[in-house]
Amino acid sequence: MIQNFTFLELSQVTSTQDVAHELARDGKLSHSMVIIAKEQTKGRGRYDRTWLSPEGGLYISIVLKPPLKLEYWSQISYVIGISLCEAIMHIDPTTVPKLKWVNDVLIGNKKVAGILLELIEGETLVVGMGVNLKANARVDELLGAHLDGKFKAEELLDVFLRRLKYNYNLWCDTGFEPIRTLWLRMAYGIGKAINVNLRTQTQSGTLIGIDDLGRLQLLDGATMRLISAGDVFFH
Ligand code: BTN
Repeated sequence: MIQNFTFLELSQVTSTQDVAHELARDGKLSHSMVIIAKEQTKGRGRYDRTWLSPEGGLYISIVLKPPLKLEYWSQISYVIGISLCEAIMHIDPTTVPKLKWVNDVLIGNKKVAGILLELIEGETLVVGMGVNLKANARVDELLGAHLDGKFKAEELLDVFLRRLKYNYNLWCDTGFEPIRTLWLRMAYGIGKAINVNLRTQTQSGTLIGIDDLGRLQLLDGATMRLISAGDVFFH
């Protein structure tokens, strides 16, 4: 359960994820710690991609030790995604974010936020989240999207953490089902034709939803495929 968050606020770091790994080595990581940086010089995304992190965005890593079996821990992506969407809609009801499997937050059909899960020694989860709050030439060049400067980092973080506390505790108490329901309500592209890039192959079909464990349901002809990890592309 999350009771209260503790904060470590830094100005420039390589990556808030790196800071978490260093603290872990020194035995200084604790559950529900939030590491915040104004700027990252080596922000990273999924599959070792770069996450451009100029000043003006929101860059955080949250340390969690879920009281559930390790096999369920990846569901935290959904808990984080819906919490961020709820926070965005709470602050500006005219902005309607969508969630693209597995952990991208979109406005329109462009990505404004990404989530990265890293496991430390099989016992601690470090959840990194980056949000592009305003326009930046380098980010825009790479076709990244942003929240138009309408959101202040402190306010967004504050509302997000309140929603996260609620949703995380709900997940710990009752399991994945209510989180799955909320995620499906905000999901992008249900019913659309997609390609999913897996490590060594691509699978195509219709996006149906997610199952009770959080796996993507892809209907390929008459076969329902369940996918745990991959990159989704819409046609
Ligand atoms: C992705 O979409 O690929 C995930 C991006 C995650 C970026 C965040 S920013 C804060 C934290 N520190 C990092 O270096 N990465 C994550």
